[in-house]
Amino acid sequence: MSEATRIDGKAFAAKLRERVGALAEAFAETAGRKPGLAVVLVGEDAASQVYVGAKGKATVAANMESFEHRLPADTDEGTLLALVAQLNADEAVDGILVQLPLPGHLNEQAVIGAIDPGKDVDGFHVINAGRLSVGQTGFVPCTPLGCMMLLADRLGDLSGLEAVVIGRSNIVGKPMAQLLLDANATVTIAHSRTKDLPGVVRRADIVVAAVGRPEMVKADWLKPGATVIDVGINRLPPEPGSDKGRLVGDVAFAEASETAAAITPVPGGVGPMTIAVLLRNTLVAAYEHAG
Ligand code: GUN
Repeated sequence: MSEATRIDGKAFAAKLRERVGALAEAFAETAGRKPGLAVVLVGEDAASQVYVGAKGKATVAANMESFEHRLPADTDEGTLLALVAQLNADEAVDGILVQLPLPGHLNEQAVIGAIDPGKDVDGFHVINAGRLSVGQTGFVPCTPLGCMMLLADRLGDLSGLEAVVIGRSNIVGKPMAQLLLDANATVTIAHSRTKDLPGVVRRADIVVAAVGRPEMVKADWLKPGATVIDVGINRLPPEPGSDKGRLVGDVAFAEASETAAAITPVPGGVGPMTIAVLLRNTLVAAYEHAG
């Protein structure tokens, strides 16, 4: 079998960001203000610092206003909820993103639940999760929506295809399964208690791996010709003589490329799509707020 096509999420995301940036400029001309995204980071988590920095830069590059709020790790829930309330009321703010994970003493559900659902560009509020589950329009979480864009671009109509989503998180696995179902795929959600996971995955025309286990999905788990979307971003332990380990996905990329028809690389696959879709959701929010 020939080598799989590499699905270039980085290039797709760059085009999406460019389109969103042009539309944001047009929005500003008619609305008299730029779309605004507020990002809240509590604490010093290294990966979160990198993500939040990248989101801020991408927001400005897409002709939008970025409002960054960095709070100390020991911030109490009342203070955080007061900030969310202030952002809900701020007309310059179209989207609010509270970076997860929050420090352990803060109740994530309570904080997400305090965000105005009309500004919940992450799509994590129960109202938006509920809308997705009953087929109403609302904000859809960025990573799964980005995966769907890559799948639609690659495969077109997904009707009747067998899709296996590995992972059942609220952020990726569950909304991903919902979106695939809405696209008329036959969907299985597999997880850590699934019996014969390789056998289940082998049925799939579409595999979406979102478990956070480095290189777990092997070539012999895949049906020849499958399309593989790898959401995992895992850092391996450093090799001798190097201070940082390699980034890998949840799929053993090199061997899987021998069996799959198409596969997203890590990095450069799904990762860049998340921020591009966040900007797209913020633009949609801005248009809704402008009436
Ligand atoms: N942490 C990891 N991914 C995300 C995301 O998409 N949104 C938020 N708010 N936090 C995250």
